[in-house]
Amino acid sequence: MTDIGELLLSRIRDVADYPEPGVMFKDITPLLADPAAFTALTDALAEIAGRTGATKVVGLEARGFILGAPVAVRAGLGFIPVRKAGKLPGATLAQAYDLEYGSAEIEVHAEDLSADDRVLVVDDVLATGGTAEASVQLIRRAGAEVAGLAVLMELGFLGGRARLEPALAGAPLEALLTV
Ligand code: PRP
Ligand code: MG
Repeated sequence: MTDIGELLLSRIRDVADYPEPGVMFKDITPLLADPAAFTALTDALAEIAGRTGATKVVGLEARGFILGAPVAVRAGLGFIPVRKAGKLPGATLAQAYDLEYGSAEIEVHAEDLSADDRVLVVDDVLATGGTAEASVQLIRRAGAEVAGLAVLMELGFLGGRARLEPALAGAPLEALLTV
């Protein structure tokens, strides 16, 4: 693993049985509290934004906001929030997706994306891929192009990458860490 990978991994805390028994929660708050690690993470994700030719950064509520906003600033790009349903005041596009129990919905302001945009989606964790898949569908429905998906951490054993492949249609999925 690279030095940056080691640094990032060392600042992620495993919390057993949270939020429910049998789940190992990946807590990124120690990483956020460490300026060297947070800066290294921001720089690594901003490098992906540059390499993929992104014109906008989409962050997925809530933890994707914390990572995506500084990436947009560092890369010199606009930031667009994809929010959980009911939080955006303007005209929105909505995309539903399945959870383990029930379903959820995310939204984006329709006016924030256009056919001229290439969008990098940023989030903290790729688990089943449901949230990221819905965001990719939303971006395409808004008429924009998907430049890629960049995450701090991919939980490889949950199969999110395979699920996302059709939706990404060749756009890169970049994970700084895979566990
Ligand atoms: C978590 C995580 C990712 C998503 C990954 O978000 O931050 O966004 O789950 O899961 P998936 O790949 O199975 O969709 P969550 O909505 O639980 O919490 P948050 O609002 O704190 O980001
Ligand atoms: Mg999230």
